[in-house]
Parts: sequence; structure tokens; C-alpha cells
Amino acid sequence: MTVQPDPAPLSAIDLTDASVWEAAAPHGWLDRLRRESPVHWHEESDGPGFWALTRHADVRQVSTSPGEFSSYVGGPIRLDPPEGGLDQVRMIIIGMDPPEHQMFRSIVSRAFTPKMIGQLESALRSETKRVVGSLRGRNTCEFVSEIASPIPMWSISELMGVPQADRHRLYELSHALIDDQDPEVSPSPEASTEALSEIFAYATAMAERERARPTDSLTSRLLTAEVDGRRLSDLEYTLFFMFLIVAGNETTRTASSQGLIALLEHPDELRRLRDEPNLIPTAVDEILRWEPPIHHFRRTATVDTRIGGQQVAAGDKVLMWYAGSNRDPAVFEDPHRFRVDRSPNPHQSFGIGEHFCLGANLARLSLRLLLEELVAAVTDIEIAAPPRRLHSNLINGVKELQIGFRPR
Ligand code: HEM
Repeated sequence: MTVQPDPAPLSAIDLTDASVWEAAAPHGWLDRLRRESPVHWHEESDGPGFWALTRHADVRQVSTSPGEFSSYVGGPIRLDPPEGGLDQVRMIIIGMDPPEHQMFRSIVSRAFTPKMIGQLESALRSETKRVVGSLRGRNTCEFVSEIASPIPMWSISELMGVPQADRHRLYELSHALIDDQDPEVSPSPEASTEALSEIFAYATAMAERERARPTDSLTSRLLTAEVDGRRLSDLEYTLFFMFLIVAGNETTRTASSQGLIALLEHPDELRRLRDEPNLIPTAVDEILRWEPPIHHFRRTATVDTRIGGQQVAAGDKVLMWYAGSNRDPAVFEDPHRFRVDRSPNPHQSFGIGEHFCLGANLARLSLRLLLEELVAAVTDIEIAAPPRRLHSNLINGVKELQIGFRPR
């Protein structure tokens, strides 16, 4: 492919613009940055600026060097939290550094091992069958709300011990909290603050129930676990609870919806998957590489150091743009080609190193089961109306995906 020179200066690139990501990941920009300025100083209108990373090796270096690139100093996302918020972010594992981070991570990590997640498989398969079964006798549906959303909420609720009756409300709250850049989801700053208070109140009520009658749920474990010889404070517990609900929901829903869009936009690959369902596991990782559910995470440099030869200063923000690193031609052959049999596929959509996603096994299982059940149940799937994507530079969400299909 010949690359036409882009006459616009690199400074015209604005990766913070949520409308850009809402339309589609700006691969033209990301490729250009990787070629011309892989560790790129990016101005921002609402902050001091940041280094934008688009190379696989640089994202790896930064993610695997928590001593030099901290999640604690400025939190894991682009904008500094509002006044007082940073203290709370630092109480959530995603905003911690070693050695504290490891202590908190080990409270829940056992629940997410391949063995533990494997034990969930048959129940998750039944739930997936039930949800996909709702398509029987129909030939249209809104995929995000009817199929992609209920399954992850079911899984995280089972793990946390959230009763059936409360799941839908908790799902709505997690949505309002994390997707707060989109005015349709979270119409005002108050809406996300109210969602936060309601989740806090819910976590507190749940703690009372679990204390009165302990179960083997993750929630009980959060309440009884010790770090450094002490129990979690109420606030630490509440934030952990909230984070698990949000992390378990938003990303997997996004991966399912984006995954279906990717397959429908590549009908030969979808056909191949239907004819060779043994390719579903590699297809799952290709979907994650193709449309990372999270656009970026952040670190803050703690010392003057270098990233891929570029000098960066202590205190600088560093943003890892996974849609860029996942299409780095130094690592992925023909990176702009979506192929369900891609292997190996060392994409970085689950992060890497210290904070590598704890839910990766669960998310992969969820996506595999969904694709298996969907491909078995329906055929001739087509996009019935242009998908409506989330207005966000953080979450690669889909708000609405109307599809048509025929029973298989
Ligand atoms: C396709 C689905 C998912 C994607 C793409 C995803 C992505 C990520 C990424 C990129 C990180 C790394 C953050 C960083 O480096 O700062 C992360 C961390 C994390 N994820 Fe996921 N995630 C997914 C599903 C889940 C699920 C289902 C759960 C839980 C049920 C979960 C729980 C977590 C937790 C607890 C962390 C923090 C780990 C730590 O800080 O040590 N994730 N996730």
C-alpha cells in the first residue's frame, strides 16, 4: 500500500475528540503517528498534554514498568479526577502501584483463574442459550440491549452474589457511571454522581446482607479479606465492589457488539466461522484486537526516563492507544486485515503486565459461548440500521445495533 503524504501538521490530530472515536477509530491518524512520531507529544485543551503511544513495544514497556510509569500518581485515565477524586481512584486496584496493588489484586485474583472460570462454563452456556433463545420465532432484534448486555451482567452478578431482581438497575447505573461522556447515556455531571451514590448505597446494603449471612461470593470475600493484617475500610470495599461491577459489564458488552459488527462487515470471515466453529477462539482474540473495548489507559512518569528513544519527564502523562498498538505492522502481519484465524495474536486490549485484566478468562469464555450459540441459532444476519456508537474517547461502546436474521 502506498502511503499518501498527509499535508496537515501532526498537531492537527486530536485523539481526545470523542466525536472522532464515535464515528470510528481514527486509524489514518494512528498509523501516521506510529510512522512519523510514535511517542508523540499531544496537546490537550483541558490538560497539560500527554505522550501518545501507538507502537506495541512502547505500550509493553510502559505497562510492564509500574515503577517508572505509575497508575497511582495521576490515575488510569486521561483527565485528572476532580478535586478529592484522586484519593478515591487510588483506593481502586486499577489506580494502585506495587506493592499495594498486588495485595489488593490477590483478594480477588483466585476467583478469576482459568479453573474457577471453567467451573462457571456450563451455567454460563445455559444462560447464553437462554438469552440467544429469545431470538426464536423472530427475525429482528436490537442486539446491544437484548443480547450483548444481559450476559456479562449475569456473570458478574453470579460472581458477586447480586440477586436477580437488582441486576438490571445495577447495570443501568454502571452504564451511566462509565459512559459519562455521552450526553444521551449520562445527560449531566449530576447523573453520573447520582449513579455513583446509588451504587455506593447498594454496595452498603449488600455488605449488611452478606455480613449477616456470609456466602462464598466475591462480595463476601471483599468483606473478609485482609491486606497488611487489616480488613478493607468501608470505602475501599465499596469502591472495589463498584469497580468489579463496572469492569465486568461495560467491556464485554462492547466486545460482543463490536465483534458482531466486525463479522458482519467481513461476511467471508463470518461464513468461515460458521463452517469452521473451531476457529471461534481465535476469532474472539481477533475481535478484541480489531476493536479494543477500551481506547486508552494512562500512566504518569515518576522519573525522567525514555520511551522508545524519546525523552519523557517525571510527571508527564502517557496514554496507551490500544487501537494503534494492536495494528502495529512490526508485530501483526497485514494489521488492517480482519481474519478469524489470526494466530499468534498478542493484542494488548486486556492491557499487559502488572494490571493485566483480571477478567480476561471470563471475557474470552463469554465471547466464545456467545459466538457459538449465535452462529448455531441464526443465519443471514445483517445490519438493519447504521449502528449507533458511544460518544467517548475511553470506551469503544455501541449504543444500538439493529439486526435482521433468519433462524438456522
Ligand atoms: C472484553 C472484555 C474486557 C476488556 C477488553 C478489559 C480490559 C481491561 C484492561 C485494558 C485492563 C488494564 C488496565 C490497565 O492497564 O491500567 C483491565 C483491568 C482489569 N479488568 Fe478488565 N477487561 C474486560 C473484561 C473484564 C471483566 C469481565 C472483568 C471482571 C469481571 C474485568 C476486571 C478487570 C479488573 C479487576 C482489572 C484491574 C486489574 C488490576 O488493576 O490489577 N475485566 N481490563
